[in-house]
Amino acid sequence: MVAELLRQNPTLDDLRQVAAHCKACDLWKTGTQTVFGEGVATAKVMFVGEQPGDREDLAGRPFVGPAGLLLDRALAQAGIERSEVYVTNVVKHFKWVRDERGKRRIHKKPRASEINACRPWLDAEIALVKPEVLVCLGATAAQSLLGRDFSVSRQRGELAQSELAPHVIATVHPSSLLRMPDEKNRHAEMERFIEDLKKVGRLLKRSARTQDARTDIQKLAS
Ligand code: URA
Repeated sequence: MVAELLRQNPTLDDLRQVAAHCKACDLWKTGTQTVFGEGVATAKVMFVGEQPGDREDLAGRPFVGPAGLLLDRALAQAGIERSEVYVTNVVKHFKWVRDERGKRRIHKKPRASEINACRPWLDAEIALVKPEVLVCLGATAAQSLLGRDFSVSRQRGELAQSELAPHVIATVHPSSLLRMPDEKNRHAEMERFIEDLKKVGRLLKRSARTQDARTDIQKLAS
């Protein structure tokens, strides 16, 4: 389905419309809707999370719940505009189970088969946006995109070997910070997260300088 669509030079909106009816795995049965990526097609940086959460599932938009708000705050502190970024997930339906009291929907980690079924959508987003920097948020995204042996705790903030984008990097998922009970640890981890995002900002500046130099050379040559 996606391969055929890509041959027709789709826009992100075209992809979004077709993905809304995706039944490549069973998660469409329990999720409210497909939560496709969001951001401009010219975004220089793409953040990839695991899957939409409860709020995202209801809103139909990625990273609009508590983890998204924390990401927004960290981006602002790192000097990166949310409007400059494209945010998406490896899995585009919310996978959940009811809590014991039957009240809340609790996030459940996606299976490899669900991640694989959804992968063509992420590949299509990467192919269209062509980000300069691709950032994996958390282990699910990092291991799906960089291999099962990738360790976010050991390799966070380092440039990873990957063909997916000129620069690929992984850091923790913002919801892991929200889950930390100790405020002092949470604060320290937030600072580390912001440092990783500052590195992303530096990579973006470097890419912009390279692009300016290319444009200057093209002008001289013409
Ligand atoms: N967590 C994710 O990985 N993605 C979202 O969109 C929201 C929370």
